[in-house]
Amino acid sequence: MAKAKEKQADFGFRRVPLGDKQALVDDVFHSVARRYDLMNDLMSGGLHRAWKDALVTAINPPKSDRAFALLDVAGGTGDISFRTVTAGGAGTRATVADINAEMLGVGRERAFGQALDDVVTFVDANAESLPFPDKSFDAVSIAFGIRNVPRIDVALGEMHRVLRLGGRFLCLEFSSVDVPGLDALYELYSFNVVPALGRIVAGDAEPYRYLVESIRRFPRPNAFADMMRAAGFARVSHRALTGGIVALHSGWRL
Ligand SMILES: C[S@@+](CC[C@H](N)C(=O)[O-])C[C@H]1O[C@@H](n2cnc3c(N)ncnc32)[C@H](O)[C@@H]1O
Repeated sequence: MAKAKEKQADFGFRRVPLGDKQALVDDVFHSVARRYDLMNDLMSGGLHRAWKDALVTAINPPKSDRAFALLDVAGGTGDISFRTVTAGGAGTRATVADINAEMLGVGRERAFGQALDDVVTFVDANAESLPFPDKSFDAVSIAFGIRNVPRIDVALGEMHRVLRLGGRFLCLEFSSVDVPGLDALYELYSFNVVPALGRIVAGDAEPYRYLVESIRRFPRPNAFADMMRAAGFARVSHRALTGGIVALHSGWRL
C-alpha cells in the first residue's frame, strides 16, 4: 500500500514535515531567549511596546478588586502578563503559558525582579493542548506567538475552549504592510537589518531570518479572521497598527 503523504508546514520559507516544525521553532527560541527582550526593542525601535499597550488596553482588566484571570499563550518572557497585572486592580492575575523552558525561565526572573511573582504564574504548555479546564479564563491573549505554532487551527480551538462565555480573545501578530513606500522600506529593513542585528547583538543571524520569513508566511488578516470564526469565535474583527506592520485581532466567546 502506498505510504500516506506526510503533512507539511512552513518553517520560514522552508517546507518541513508538520511533525518537525515545533522542534525547529523551539531551537529558535532556545537560542534567542537571553537576548529576546533587548532584541525586541532593537528590532522594532521600541514600537513593540506601543503594540503591546494596544493589546492590554483591549484586554481591559478591571481597575477594581474584581477577580480577573488572563491566560497569555506563547507568553514567552511575560511582557503581556506584566503589563496586564500592572494595568489592572488587585484582583487581576495572569498565567503565562509557553512551550519553551528558556523563555519561561527569563520570564520568572523578570517576575521576581519586578515583585510580580505572586500575581503572574508561568506554565510550561503547548498551545495545541492547554492544560486548563474549559471556560477557566476571563480573557485569552497571544502576542507574536500564533505564527510559530504548527497547527494554528488546533491552538485557536484550545484558546476558545479555555475562555469563559462572554470572554474576549485577542491576538497580536505581524501582518501585511499596505502603505506604498513603507512596504518597500519594511521589506528592506526586515531582510537586511534584522538578521544583521541578530548577528551583531545575539551572535547569530539565522533565528532572526526565521522570524522575518515566518511573518511573510502568516495568513493575511481576513484569512486569519476566517480561521478564528472556524474555531468558534464570534464578532471577529481586526485593526491594523503602524500601517499594517502589526494587526490586533479580536474575537469573543458567546
Ligand atoms: C515571538 S515569541 C513571543 C513572546 C511574547 N508573547 C512576546 O510578545 O514578547 C513567540 C513565543 O511562542 C512560543 N511558542 C512557540 N510555539 C509554541 C507552542 N506550540 N505553544 C506555546 N508556545 C509556543 C515560543 O516559545 C516563544 O516564546
